[in-house]
Amino acid sequence: MKRIGVFVPGKVLISGEHSVVYGERALVAGIDKGARVVLEEDLSLSKPEILAKHDGMGLVKKAVKVAGGGALPLRIRIESDLPVGSGLGSSAALGAATIKAVKTYLGETITQQAWFDLTMEVERVAHGNPSGVDPAGVIYGGLVRFVKGKEITPLKTKKVISFLLVQTGKPKESTKEMVVEVVGNQMREKEKMTNTIIKNIGKVTRKLETAMRAGGEIRELINENGRLLEQLGVVGTKAKILADELRKMGAGVKIVGAGGIRKGSGMMLVYDSNLDLERSYLKQHNWNYMEVTIGQ
Ligand code: MEV
Repeated sequence: MKRIGVFVPGKVLISGEHSVVYGERALVAGIDKGARVVLEEDLSLSKPEILAKHDGMGLVKKAVKVAGGGALPLRIRIESDLPVGSGLGSSAALGAATIKAVKTYLGETITQQAWFDLTMEVERVAHGNPSGVDPAGVIYGGLVRFVKGKEITPLKTKKVISFLLVQTGKPKESTKEMVVEVVGNQMREKEKMTNTIIKNIGKVTRKLETAMRAGGEIRELINENGRLLEQLGVVGTKAKILADELRKMGAGVKIVGAGGIRKGSGMMLVYDSNLDLERSYLKQHNWNYMEVTIGQ
């Protein structure tokens, strides 16, 4: 019996969510949590059988189809340790892992670019009009610079950077709603102000890239980015209050991903040169968080 397992990491946006949709650069990094897809051949099946808790939107089905596996006798299991819809690229990782597993089963090799293009087709189901930053983060891993429709550039950080990702709660809104309705409407109604915020996120992303490559200070730049996302209207009250508490302790704080305003805002990145104070605050107040390191 043929059995194939593929793991694809999730991603974290260090900078550039939303502004990347309008053509600004983004910095995105792979993380060590991700999605695993296991395919088992079962010749008694006439089409793929998908056993997945995380496939509410039919992403896995779409991924099997775009990879050319729509009529294959496969049992497909999904294991993901990425919270769904919280800014860690769970849909891109699931799509990419499924595509790679089906291609491996078929004995076909694909280039990174072809893998990215197929994963984009799956992303369109989840996000409507995705920039491509999520597939880039999960497929290329490490730290990359991403500009919509342009080349994806792997980058090196001078230092290893450790931070926390705090779960502020699963957003009630989908990424598509946040991009198309919340920010999209604001862009129509208050075009000048929204454009300025987007341009400023672009500027801070460029400064962050320079600082990370040179081993410079990034804490205030992360806060600048975090506050711009708050001004853009993608961060809820609960997350803003938490961000301000952590900033008082000296941390650099921003949400990662599309955000959310009605309930949770997804994952929040918390950076400091020493995170002991922030860890004990989060433990004391029962916030769930994970530790992430990039640049190793
Ligand atoms: C979602 O992880 C990032 C957004 O910028 C949407 C996109 O780029 O497709 C909010």
